[in-house]
Amino acid sequence: MRTVVKNIGQLATPLSDGSVAVTRDAVLSFVAGKIEFVGPGRDFGEPADETYDAAGGVVLPGFVDAHTHLVFGGHRAQELELRARGQSYGEIKAAGGGIMSTVQATRGLGQEDLLAIGLKHLAWCVRAGTTTLEAKSGYGLDLSTELDILLALHNIDLAFASSTGLKTPRVVSTFLGLHAVPEGAETDSFVEDVIDRWLPAVHGAGLATYVDAFVEQGYFSPDQCRMFVRAAQKLGFSARLHVDQLTVGGGAALAVELGASTADHMEQTVDFIPLIDSDTIPVLLPGSVLGLGLNKYADARALLDAGSPVVLATDFNPGTSPTPSLPFVMALAARHMRMTPEECLKAVTDHAARSLGLHDRGRLEPGLLADFSVWPLVDWREVIQWIDGPRPVSVWAAGTKITA
Ligand code: NIG
Ligand code: FE
Repeated sequence: MRTVVKNIGQLATPLSDGSVAVTRDAVLSFVAGKIEFVGPGRDFGEPADETYDAAGGVVLPGFVDAHTHLVFGGHRAQELELRARGQSYGEIKAAGGGIMSTVQATRGLGQEDLLAIGLKHLAWCVRAGTTTLEAKSGYGLDLSTELDILLALHNIDLAFASSTGLKTPRVVSTFLGLHAVPEGAETDSFVEDVIDRWLPAVHGAGLATYVDAFVEQGYFSPDQCRMFVRAAQKLGFSARLHVDQLTVGGGAALAVELGASTADHMEQTVDFIPLIDSDTIPVLLPGSVLGLGLNKYADARALLDAGSPVVLATDFNPGTSPTPSLPFVMALAARHMRMTPEECLKAVTDHAARSLGLHDRGRLEPGLLADFSVWPLVDWREVIQWIDGPRPVSVWAAGTKITA
């Protein structure tokens, strides 16, 4: 069955040569969840079994959010007042807030609750145009809760994929084994336990593709993270790392040294040379800078001007970056990171998909998944121009409309 999306005022998509193509008066057609034709309406003459009228609006590829913490208990609304009184992230953590309070709210939740929470958060992401995402565990800090979160992520992936009728990854899972040191534990022996006992258990359960660690003063040292990642790699995991978020600690260089797929955050990174021409893709997270009330954003220009691909992601989490919206993240990057609209679009589609090893999405071209969103706008750049502006009229994954 052929579905034809007609009356598209502007269709914008990255191309495989690194450029962005904008087509006016476009048509998009797909069969069995895959794109068959994309181009000017006048070039399309096939009969349609079903049509969808884009009403002159904008069509973009489905967004790929390459860094989220999708499943956690509770919220952190209680921290707003502390923030208003001037307390920093570090001070709130020291007073028992921060990651630890989310861990308390997550432990003890049953599988059903974790699944329901994850699906609720997923709906927030989809409503902003996201059709694929990476999601981390990390709010358990004990093995059984970590496994519970990963199982919930697995079930969210199954539910999401089956709602589109095509079996393909929609939620890619990451075991964030080194997120924080649990209360009462000593860091070195905690790391040892994660390596010796947790990693084999997560591996045995087959519930994660990547591992992640928070390389940061007061959390985990480069040496501890190196041991963890090397052990994980021996089991077949790939790595994504939280680096140089609050202090500069050589984390980005460590990610390259370890052959990690991504180096995430990088707000404090000063030396970009190791990243250039490496296989490690920078994932920049401006929502967390805004969320922490800080003003030092990652130096995206240094990377882009040196020819590095750049990914933008939400870092959706209740503490530092409570936004599920990639349009909002692009709006920040366009203002605070001197990224052009084309660089922003590639960062949340093609480059993001590539960072997850997914080569069947991220661009609108024949043969790729029919993942796209339709916007009630005239110029595609308006998706970035308006801050927390209009939402898509509809979002499609593998040719199935997944918004009401
Ligand atoms: O990516 N940096 C570590 N983890 C999260 C925040 C965790 C929290 O505050 O709950 C992040 O920013
Ligand atoms: Fe994060």
